[in-house]
Amino acid sequence: MVLGASEGIGRATALNLRAKGYATVLSARTRSALEDVARESGGGQDVFVVPGDITSRSFRADLVAAAERRFGRIDVLINNAPGPAPGSFDSTDPADVTTAMERKLVPYLDLIKSVAPVMARNEFGRIVNIVGNIGKEPASGMFLSGLVNAAVSNASKYLASQYAKDNVTVNCVHPGPFGPSATTGPWSTSAGPAESRRTRRRTGCGAPSPWPGRGAPTRSPPSSDSWCPTKPRT
Ligand SMILES: NC(=O)c1ccc[n+]([C@@H]2O[C@H](COP(=O)([O-])OP(=O)(O)OC[C@H]3O[C@@H](n4cnc5c(N)ncnc54)[C@H](OP(=O)(O)O)[C@@H]3O)[C@@H](O)[C@H]2O)c1
Repeated sequence: MVLGASEGIGRATALNLRAKGYATVLSARTRSALEDVARESGGGQDVFVVPGDITSRSFRADLVAAAERRFGRIDVLINNAPGPAPGSFDSTDPADVTTAMERKLVPYLDLIKSVAPVMARNEFGRIVNIVGNIGKEPASGMFLSGLVNAAVSNASKYLASQYAKDNVTVNCVHPGPFGPSATTGPWSTSAGPAESRRTRRRTGCGAPSPWPGRGAPTRSPPSSDSWCPTKPRT
């Protein structure tokens, strides 16, 4: 089950999973864009498009129920929802904090809550939360992104411990710059190539990482830091 599957990281992940032979549930709001991805991935009965707004609690419940009905199990959940718009602390209203959490943190947690028991029944599950390094290292003008991503990372580590006994792993991926969204924030090319390179050197991000496929370890690594170390590379 891949969220945000119509564009960017979610689309690339969905295509990658299909290429590896996974039956996939593609979700985002725009049906036509999801259908394009389904076609691009080869179409057929093993691709199931479920459009809807992931910030809606009832849609999240419908999505999980529809996936279970269609495939009888859920092996992999790719939690992938948009981060908040850039903004400084001074320009952030308390209501913006709530909205930002409701767009990414809350859907991730709510889906884990419903999907993890389905995975536990089959004694197999891989939950991957798409997060962002900004949760570990704040960046100017990206106040809410840092806040939301820090919360997702913290929750992921908590949940990794909780579900490990069921052979359900919970990990974070902290992507480097990817697609159109890479044009905002510290990764952006508008920040200038030199600055972008400096940021990547400082955080060690941007290098390709191995995909955690079916052969992945049955216990979560100690922390998501293995994907992208915060310590500067020498
Ligand atoms: N791209 C980067 O450089 C980068 C770097 C670090 C971290 N990240 C993180 O990676 C995640 C994905 O980023 P991205 O750049 O791949 O995003 P993106 O290209 O903007 O794609 C967002 C996806 O989410 C869907 N979406 C948006 N609002 C939705 C809603 N309310 N309900 C359901 N689906 C919704 C969009 O489709 P619809 O509009 O059709 O719904 C689209 O499929 C974000 O959490 C971001 O913080 C990205």
